[in-house]
Amino acid sequence: MVKAVVLGAAGGIGQPLSLLLKANPLITELGLFDIVNTPGVAADLSHISTPAKVVGYLPPDDGLKKVLTNADVVVIPAGVPRKPGMTRDDLFKINAGIVRDLATGIATAAPKAFILVISNPVNSTVPIVAEVLKKHGVFDPKRLFGVTTLDVVRASTFVAEILGDLSLSKSVAVPVVGGHSGVTIVPLLSQSSHPLPANLTTDQYEALVKRIQFGGDEVVKAKDGAGSATLSMAYAGAEFAAKLIRAIGGEKGVSAPTFVNLSADPSGGEALKKELGQDLDYFSTVVELGPEGVAKINTLGSLTDAETALVKAAIPELATNIQTGVSFIASPK
Ligand code: NAD
Ligand code: LMR
Repeated sequence: MVKAVVLGAAGGIGQPLSLLLKANPLITELGLFDIVNTPGVAADLSHISTPAKVVGYLPPDDGLKKVLTNADVVVIPAGVPRKPGMTRDDLFKINAGIVRDLATGIATAAPKAFILVISNPVNSTVPIVAEVLKKHGVFDPKRLFGVTTLDVVRASTFVAEILGDLSLSKSVAVPVVGGHSGVTIVPLLSQSSHPLPANLTTDQYEALVKRIQFGGDEVVKAKDGAGSATLSMAYAGAEFAAKLIRAIGGEKGVSAPTFVNLSADPSGGEALKKELGQDLDYFSTVVELGPEGVAKINTLGSLTDAETALVKAAIPELATNIQTGVSFIASPK
């Protein structure tokens, strides 16, 4: 019995994500919350012949509290998306407050839920959720995840394209580490399950890294003012949610890159911090998942010189993003 909840369920990501969660046979209850349109989205999804009972809620009459009651997994794609010319950080002004308020609802109505944060800027919104939970005395770092799966999905697809066989994309696995914005997105292509062609030039390698780092911009540009990635994000979010649900249900050997608080690791992420040469509180890397959420946070493993340089370049922006999120709650202006 798994109750999944989507906060921001009527949006560009929220609707297809809710559809994919409704199609997941392990989910028995699906709660949808948004400031608009959830009764219609829920009515529509409720006709699909899969097990999940679907109910939609709006803010009046304690809708947030009602949707979160008994939630096991809460996915948050609420907030505004980018338009051309904007960075993810430009979304902070609006999305920080939205995420803070939703996290407050979770802290009071579903303090034990696993929380999957999609709303951008992820590098800052995840620390916001953590700080809110800490304020309420219910923070469990094992249960909080920044969803970076879209970077992983893009890396798989773009590597399969370079290998000339898109049918490989489902099986190509590339760890993408760091964070979720521009240079903080670091694909470890040397660890790809499917090695890159031996004759790939340095220019081609660098172009591939750039495409993975700035894949979001490609979609923002193509949508030309109508938003950012929604369908690929819904796919990625549903993939990550499905993995987590399998792991909390007892399946062994489930792992995925995700942006987590390093204190979730049994050893406090010390080995990873040592590798990074930096005392960061959050980082995205391959995380082993288990019944409690985070079971173990993996280190980066062996890197090429180019990858070491990419990791180094990611750290300053990541540290600033994290601090921005923490300060928003810890010392609000
Ligand atoms: P959207 O505007 O289509 O949908 C957002 C939804 O959030 C809307 O339905 C809106 O009504 C709702 N919302 C706003 N305030 C709310 C509140 N207080 N409570 C509940 N719902 C609320 O946007 P989208 O394209 O779905 O993108 C949503 C967010 O996801 C953006 O911040 C975007 O940048 C981010 N995103 C993240 C990733 C990632 O890889 N993590 C990928 C794509 C998009
Ligand atoms: C993405 O990577 O597609 C998302 O973070 C949305 C964006 O703003 O690019």
